[in-house]
Amino acid sequence: MGSDVTALLEELTLAEKIRLVHGAADPDGTATGYVPGNDRLGIPPVTVVDGPLGVRAMGERATAFPASIALAASWDPELAREFGTAVGRETAAHDQDVLLGPGVNIIRTPAGGRNFEYYSEDPQLSARMGVGTIEGIQSAGVSATVKHYVANNQETNRYEVSADVSERALRELYLPAFRAAVEEGDVDAVMTAYNRVNGIHMSDHERLLSDVLKGEWDFDGLVVSDWWGTRSTVDAARAGLDLEMPGVELTEYLPELDADGFDDDPSPPNGTSSDFPPIPDVPAYFGEPLREAIESGEIDESILDEKVSRLLSMLESTGRQNVAEFETGSPSDDSTGELDTPAHRELARDIAIAGTVLLTNDGVLPLSESDSVAVIGPNADAAKLGGGGSSEVSPFTETAPLAGIESRAADASFERGVNPIAESSFFADSESADANGSASTGETSIDDAVSAAASADCAVVVAQDDATEFTDRDSIELPGRQNELIDAVAAAAERTVVVLRTSGPVELPWLDAVDAVLETWYPGQADGEALAAVLFGDADPGGRLPVTFGRSATDYPTADETAFPGTDDIAQYEEGVFVGYRYFDDRDIEPLFPFGHGQSYATFEYDDVTVSETDDGCDVTVDLRNVGTRAGKAVVQVYVGKSAAPVPTPERELAGFESVELGAGDSATVTISLAREDFAYYDEDSGWTVPDGSNTVHVGRSSRDIQTTVDVDTR
Ligand code: NOJ
Repeated sequence: MGSDVTALLEELTLAEKIRLVHGAADPDGTATGYVPGNDRLGIPPVTVVDGPLGVRAMGERATAFPASIALAASWDPELAREFGTAVGRETAAHDQDVLLGPGVNIIRTPAGGRNFEYYSEDPQLSARMGVGTIEGIQSAGVSATVKHYVANNQETNRYEVSADVSERALRELYLPAFRAAVEEGDVDAVMTAYNRVNGIHMSDHERLLSDVLKGEWDFDGLVVSDWWGTRSTVDAARAGLDLEMPGVELTEYLPELDADGFDDDPSPPNGTSSDFPPIPDVPAYFGEPLREAIESGEIDESILDEKVSRLLSMLESTGRQNVAEFETGSPSDDSTGELDTPAHRELARDIAIAGTVLLTNDGVLPLSESDSVAVIGPNADAAKLGGGGSSEVSPFTETAPLAGIESRAADASFERGVNPIAESSFFADSESADANGSASTGETSIDDAVSAAASADCAVVVAQDDATEFTDRDSIELPGRQNELIDAVAAAAERTVVVLRTSGPVELPWLDAVDAVLETWYPGQADGEALAAVLFGDADPGGRLPVTFGRSATDYPTADETAFPGTDDIAQYEEGVFVGYRYFDDRDIEPLFPFGHGQSYATFEYDDVTVSETDDGCDVTVDLRNVGTRAGKAVVQVYVGKSAAPVPTPERELAGFESVELGAGDSATVTISLAREDFAYYDEDSGWTVPDGSNTVHVGRSSRDIQTTVDVDTR
């Protein structure tokens, strides 16, 4: 705690301190959350705004970057840092102090409504992308908020469901990205999840907040609740929650809602009226009730002081709003803000390209400039900006797939084929289309799409899902009649390329009938530009899967209702540490496309792979050569097998990776260092334990395409 903070704490009265531990209405109406500060002592207000796909200031525009899962598909933490810096500057430009992102929850179920806001099913990839993003955001003088701590892995029943999860799975899968955010990213704020973990709401979870986060990891920043996610006064205050958000009742926050918390529209915001949180019966648990608890002696005032000092320290550390300067009444105005710059537009496109995964290609891609293209797809004339909910961003500019392809192809025609797929939105005025995406008898027809496909050199079918905060997907099938459309087009077209714009894995029943499949996730404002660049070979598809594509939802550990969405308010995480590819490997299930998979237009050879032991672990060195005829990107992936462990462990676990871009004929040597701790498993009695004996290191192009396996002795 700085001396300014100590001095301020002494000056503040009890009532003034209470005003600093819960939010209030933002006088400007643009922030997602607002803490009023203190005029008397020159403590500035704190404005908090939603992310993580860009800045969502109410009624304002910002760069709509690709979804987090697309960023993660780049396997490029440096790109995450660039993204973070850009979004941090846009946050500053909007005069906001704290960004509510990144989200680092593990993608446990393929149907998760917010999978697009998260990075991966793998903790290592999530941690690396999270740390890069946080460092970038905070380099712009803005605070990042890593969310949602912890095990917020589903939307169904999110306010009540208890993730019943073993300590080992928490430590090995669900906590590492948060720990890295704290210990490596030095993140300023952590947001608690809505859900319960092993029966206790996260805002009340003393062990995970005070013992683990603030104790073991030494987190000295601010613990913020999710919006209306605070569930108590005394328990939460003691557990380690520092700031209750938003601190105002739902009806004051969203005035268009009626007293029940819902507007009269039969489809209320988010489409899920019953999932709205209960309106707190007091404006703030950390308001009047906290003052009473302190005055009655139930809570010691030092607990409140600690919360206030964390907020003041955060203000002091960001430099953008310097406590000392405000004390002297000369507020700093050296904003590092930048909004919608050419560089940000370019970055949005570059991330979309870097995150595009070429799942399969029989040689049809890249297309040639002289190809005529039939662009087909219910929503191919609109950019897929993101999913629904708090992460929605309104961009200044956007390019649809159709416009991108039109600008690049010799000739392009367009047919929807089926009616537009409805896109859930919390903030858009109305839903864009027929919720079933069903074919209309009017202007759209599969037959017209088939005719267009038959008379072009290539059909590009753009298909998508609809995902949103507040609800999980019903299934991982493409919604509406898109599968039928793809089947029909593939049967008629000379060549068919399918472009997926999905929040995560989807079933691909027509896979054998098409010639190439690109997964572009939710590519953001530069959707069409990035797609055209990849389709026509101006850029290499740089992505690798951050999630396993199973053949169906039943391939995943969450197939059973008890596991997901749970029964009697409990989701049993019975699979333990076997999530994602760890589960597929353990159960010997053949994925459709494995974790880490993705093709380049270039061809890489792994000439020589060596693993040499070092004092602290081992170095994995790979001589890589681009033997293809064009430049491209390779992602070298290193997995460990903790084979010497006395407990069941996953066959392979990602421990390190490196993305390398190489021109045709070029080579490079890549070294990835592993520490001894990378071989550790979590023992519930003795904590992190490196198994003594012979473990394995696997080097590969994906979790299932292993080039070399070497034994490593950790004795
Ligand atoms: C609830 C969401 O879970 C969280 O991610 C978001 O930042 C807040 N609402 C504020 O909109």
